[in-house]
Amino acid sequence: MRYPTSFMEELKSRVSLTEEVSRFVKLSHRGKDYIGLCPFHKEKTASFSVSDVRGFYHCFGCGAHGDIFSFIMSLEGLSFPEAVEKLANKVGMVVPKSSAEEIEQEKKKATLHEIIEISCVFYEQQLFSSVGKEALQYLYNRGLSDTDISNFRLGYASKGNRLKSFLHSKGITEDQMIEAGLLSFGKEGRESYDYFRDRIIFPISDKRGRIIAFGGRVMNGAEPKYLNSPDTDLFHKGEVLYSLTRAEVSARKEGKILLVEGYMDVISLYKGGFPYTVAPLGTALTEHQIQSLWRIVSEPIICFDGDEAGQRAALRAAERALPILKPGFSLRFIFLPDNLDPDEYLRTFGNKSFSDQLLESKPLDWLIWEQLTKGKIINTPERKAALEKSIESTLQKITDSSVQNYYRREFKQKLWEITTISGRANKKRTKTDKGIKLPECRPGRNEGKMLLAYLISYPHLMDKWLDYYTKVNFTDKEIEELVYLSEAAIIENPDISSESLQQLLTDKGKSLKPIFSELEMLSKKERFPSDIDEEMEERFRSLQLKAINDELEETGNLLANCLNDPPLDLWERFNALQEEKAKILKDFYN
Ligand code: UTP
Ligand code: MN
Repeated sequence: MRYPTSFMEELKSRVSLTEEVSRFVKLSHRGKDYIGLCPFHKEKTASFSVSDVRGFYHCFGCGAHGDIFSFIMSLEGLSFPEAVEKLANKVGMVVPKSSAEEIEQEKKKATLHEIIEISCVFYEQQLFSSVGKEALQYLYNRGLSDTDISNFRLGYASKGNRLKSFLHSKGITEDQMIEAGLLSFGKEGRESYDYFRDRIIFPISDKRGRIIAFGGRVMNGAEPKYLNSPDTDLFHKGEVLYSLTRAEVSARKEGKILLVEGYMDVISLYKGGFPYTVAPLGTALTEHQIQSLWRIVSEPIICFDGDEAGQRAALRAAERALPILKPGFSLRFIFLPDNLDPDEYLRTFGNKSFSDQLLESKPLDWLIWEQLTKGKIINTPERKAALEKSIESTLQKITDSSVQNYYRREFKQKLWEITTISGRANKKRTKTDKGIKLPECRPGRNEGKMLLAYLISYPHLMDKWLDYYTKVNFTDKEIEELVYLSEAAIIENPDISSESLQQLLTDKGKSLKPIFSELEMLSKKERFPSDIDEEMEERFRSLQLKAINDELEETGNLLANCLNDPPLDLWERFNALQEEKAKILKDFYN
């Protein structure tokens, strides 16, 4: 979009580059200019110079160069129009709009922002009203104080349709509420209803700190545990990181940013003295999210849950990063012990111990190497050759040639070490599953294919099921890869059509042959979105039940062998699983 020159001149004359820069960099005088430590690369002596007179900054160390707009764009991750708007707002200027259409679009967004903001306030008030009693107690029980609650603007969405009536009383139409993602459609022409009901509300903001969506957590064991707003004009799940605006300032100051899985992890870490923490929104990390982390810190640290799903998510993040690696930018990883998530870890071992974990973070190349060699005994020429081959195909995923070369060198060296110290066994880390985490769903080959076929046939209906897909362990690698790729495509574009998705997969050189018959089967029958929802629910439910039954059988057998003196944890696990099973069955027959 082009702005009138007069407007831009006026704006430039009113804003101050040094003022903006000094929000991030400590500047000191040098002649007419200022210097400081460059925010675009790590350095110990100042080579970053800023001139208000010329309106430019320049780094003699890394060559970063630009004006006030490029500075704000790169440091705050804004687009050009957003940077212009932010500065104009600051100095009280109104940004001229170029076309009627754009004005309309902006107006609509502004209204959506308002609707979401008043909903957020409403939820906040509900939490402290009589309907929110139980919810408030829940948060207190989880160790949060009133200050934490107001810092994160936590709220409560009650049962019934309170938000709908409240917004209605403010003159907001049903269509607007739907556009804001605050209502669900009733089935077959029935009334629409509050999207969030009886849930703790976690407001989600954009990079400017405006609330754009919500996450909602149940307080009992109902499913799904967390529900996120659907994608709207304001909210694109794959582009947002929870708590980013809160984390950003300290992240820049400390040169650290930490990515965890959950909302509660972010809040606990914030309280525990790690304010530079963010989280994706229940889906696999996207390229877009990695890029926004990189705008702040060159080596973000990923700390997913210590369970198997968390480890897989970390690997997936690593895979996603490979094609976009560039000199100086990477990821680091922390693996927490005993299936703990960061929130539980802090409560068990304390803040100090977590900082120690941070110091022990592992680089990306370590993780990739682990993945290539884990559980393998590489003691024959054929096995060595196979490893060499898989190394090469991993390297091919790195697009940047210089990074790729250094990885090749590193891995060659390691391969050499392995092949000379022959027979080295990398023992697979085995983990015991304590607590009442549900057992992992592992569909058989046919069911795996079927799940994939649904994903590919109805991508635009999969928004609420993606979380479930993420948690499934597809044992068939070919299917797993197709699921990953489809998920990624859907997160990037939730409205993608089945045809475009299939095209995209084919363009990536993937064949859909293994699931032809499943795809055909699905295409034969006309289905309503609500049918698909029911079918998905049923499939995931049976998978979960099967996983529970399998583990029950296994635990039952173990218990049968030691009935006189059963180990307590085994016994507890057995009972917890029984309970879980009963719950699922009860929900089903209700
Ligand atoms: P977890 O299941 O690990 O929950 O999901 P948690 O963060 O430990 O939450 P608490 O401590 O039980 O409250 C991690 C994240 O995955 C997303 C949410 O963003 C959650 O914070 N998620 C999880 C969903 O989107 N949907 C779900 O049903 C579950
Ligand atoms: Mn947790």
